[in-house]
Amino acid sequence: MVLTVNLPTESYDIVIEEGALARADDMLDLNRRCLVVTDEGVPKEYAETIVKKCAAPTLITIPQGEGSKSLQLFQSLCSAMLAEGFTRSDCVVAVGGGVVGDLAGFAAACYMRGIDFYNIPTTLLSQVDSSVGGKTAVNFGGTKNIIGSFHQPKKVLIDPLVLKTLNPRHISAGLAEALKMALTSDREFYGIFKAGKAKESLAEVIKRALLIKISVVEQDEKEGGLRRILNFGHTLGHGIEALQGDDGLYHGECVALGMLPMCGDGIRAEVTEILKSLELPTVLPVDLEEALAFADHDKKCVTDGVNIVRVDVAGEYVMEKMPLEEWKQLIRDRVGGMI
Ligand code: GLY
Repeated sequence: MVLTVNLPTESYDIVIEEGALARADDMLDLNRRCLVVTDEGVPKEYAETIVKKCAAPTLITIPQGEGSKSLQLFQSLCSAMLAEGFTRSDCVVAVGGGVVGDLAGFAAACYMRGIDFYNIPTTLLSQVDSSVGGKTAVNFGGTKNIIGSFHQPKKVLIDPLVLKTLNPRHISAGLAEALKMALTSDREFYGIFKAGKAKESLAEVIKRALLIKISVVEQDEKEGGLRRILNFGHTLGHGIEALQGDDGLYHGECVALGMLPMCGDGIRAEVTEILKSLELPTVLPVDLEEALAFADHDKKCVTDGVNIVRVDVAGEYVMEKMPLEEWKQLIRDRVGGMI
């Protein structure tokens, strides 16, 4: 299946196909210098499969975890490209999850003011969300994604076969981001979660999540408005994530926790049960006040208030701006009620 992201300046395909990794050279132009970036948690054979298909590969394997989204590693990727004589005609290929995609994409966005970038997401989370839409970034000064750029990939290759080696926690974390799309935008899609069928319907989940993602990105590529719905649960989620080291909760797990208090009273209990059935956390593992304090630096918090997304009815979002302190109080009230 091929889905297309149609943007005013550049359109690109997302190929969803079992065995796509093994046939990458049929779909990507690898007949040039290629910086292949992967991480230590990704089975080696995935990046090696791509490397063998490149005319002039440079392979960089970064440590696993959010800590790799750093300016130091960004510099390492740029240094490698410079040392290998990469030109504007060469490319970067990410083989991994969201961290690899964000870092490699940012290096592709900046090197010589932007070179081609291919994304081959190997986690469910990156397949349903982060590999599409062109967000690239590193973390800086304790703030997530604060330095980055929009740089759309030339193509995204999704091979569902790679999910077979993914640990179950990563599957659940990816499902949290897919549930985010369903809750904000698609009641029918939400029905798959409500019926307890999400884990056994991954192909359908990937397709439906991507259709929502594509529609949102096509309407609002640079997050002037609508794209904020993809941040549902992320303001608190980022705070929870920032308080933990690389051994803490995964990004998708923090988003799950962040979404709960943004769900209205009529739906929160049901969403809590869905999260439990997906083996996602429903109880905060960190101090709430400390997590809320991170919102003071969140780039979604503009000076005159926080842009928040709420869901009171499954499949429908409410987007509004509220004073930061009012948002914090809403979370305190609801988290208090959840315990
Ligand atoms: N993952 C959120 C976005 O792409 O906007």
